[in-house]
Amino acid sequence: MRKKIVAGNWKMNKTITEAMELAVHLTEYQNEFPKDTEVILAPPALYLGSLELMEHLNVQLAGQNCSEKDSGAYTGEISAGMLKAMNVQYCLVGHSERRQYFGETDEIIKNKVDACLRNEITPIFCCGEVLAEREASTHFVCVLKQLQGALWHLSSEQVKSVVIAYEPVWAIGTGVTATTTQAQEMHAFIRLSLGNHFGDDVAESISILYGGSVSPLNSAELFAQNDVDGGLVGGASLKAKDFAAIIQST
Ligand code: 13P
Repeated sequence: MRKKIVAGNWKMNKTITEAMELAVHLTEYQNEFPKDTEVILAPPALYLGSLELMEHLNVQLAGQNCSEKDSGAYTGEISAGMLKAMNVQYCLVGHSERRQYFGETDEIIKNKVDACLRNEITPIFCCGEVLAEREASTHFVCVLKQLQGALWHLSSEQVKSVVIAYEPVWAIGTGVTATTTQAQEMHAFIRLSLGNHFGDDVAESISILYGGSVSPLNSAELFAQNDVDGGLVGGASLKAKDFAAIIQST
């Protein structure tokens, strides 16, 4: 059985006070969360320590990014080992905003996947096409290239420790969600590609999350698709009530 996961990516939002308020608010709903769904928060890295210390918050924590390097003179960077030492279990890798605004290439993302695995952090590897690629019907080729670039060098054992998030860039923060058909067909394609490269058993064990304008209005329908194992949620994770409703719809 694949793990169901709902992860909230807070991106660069909220002061520490607002972040703690949001976390407290979330605890008010957590008794109603399905027991077999893993709930993950990816706050700004500055707040990981405070959230980790919050006694009643039953979530796993994720970094939004990490360095390819393990330590050294890399001003401003945070290593996967540092995240691990703060009890962080996951880290987003290759989010489209990192690719788009910070020049992250498939090679850099591959190195970050490796850094996570080296430090026993589960990478949440993000992939997805831009609108022009979708319109040119090259979205499958694009996503396959991203998978090949960052994951294909791994062993079957290693790739089992990766979570994949399909986030079509045109659906991020736009209010335009992929239709259930578009999401399911891409998730099935990702799983088929994983199966061809690593074997069907491995592909069946990997959680593939959907991200891009997930809301309480569309989450149940998206999560009901065969190959959609949960969601990576941006905007709606900044409101406890909405995020809780999304978790409850898994
Ligand atoms: P939105 O849910 O705001 O579209 O963001 C999705 C996302 O980028 C999560 O990583």
